[in-house]
Amino acid sequence: MTEHTYEKIYREFGKNLPWCLEGVPKFFKSLIESKWVKPCKTLDMGCGIGDYANYLALNGFEVLAVDISETAIDLAKKKYTSTKNLQFKIYDIFKLKDVKEKYDFVYEISILHNIEPKKRAEYIKNICSVLNKGGKLLVCSFSKDDLLFQGKESLYFPDLDNTVYPLEKYDFQKLFGEYFKIEKVEKVYMGRKGKRKRERWLCLMEKK
Ligand SMILES: C[S@@+](CC[C@H](N)C(=O)[O-])C[C@H]1O[C@@H](n2cnc3c(N)ncnc32)[C@H](O)[C@@H]1O
Repeated sequence: MTEHTYEKIYREFGKNLPWCLEGVPKFFKSLIESKWVKPCKTLDMGCGIGDYANYLALNGFEVLAVDISETAIDLAKKKYTSTKNLQFKIYDIFKLKDVKEKYDFVYEISILHNIEPKKRAEYIKNICSVLNKGGKLLVCSFSKDDLLFQGKESLYFPDLDNTVYPLEKYDFQKLFGEYFKIEKVEKVYMGRKGKRKRERWLCLMEKK
């Protein structure tokens, strides 16, 4: 998917896109409550309308949330105008290598599974460049085990002009193992209210 495609669908569907949940899922709240990561300098990659970033800022994190879509960033800024320690910015996560700032916690929800497999290595190098040694990384992506995919390598959603490349559990070690200590890969479930909750992999890592 290109920058243009995301901008187009945010303009057409706004907050009605399937990943706009109105709040954050239970697994995310439990993780923050568990103190797996404590309040720190944080980067949200591909923040969409900003619900996760807002939740973290309200819980003491200092958050920069970036997205390539201007409309998504406008919606996020309007929604969370009064939250302290929260900044939204239009930025391409494939250009993070140009950023001098470093973060202690970087996370992404539903980004990796939209990246073509041949571009994954480049994406991961970009993440590495902005994360401090010992910093935490959270990745949450569709699982190939979900009924939606029926074992397929990819699935195209024509309404959104969006292709998903779901992951298998072992993909995380293969993709991230060189740079990260993988702490946990577990199944979590999330979805919009009233809709079927879809299976995802939640992968928690620490930079070597
Ligand atoms: C499936 S949505 C997930 C949004 C958000 N993380 C959530 O879970 O609500 C993917 C998001 O990634 C953003 N995105 C896609 N490519 C990007 C890029 N190269 N740089 C920054 N954001 C990007 C899209 O605009 C979109 O908001």
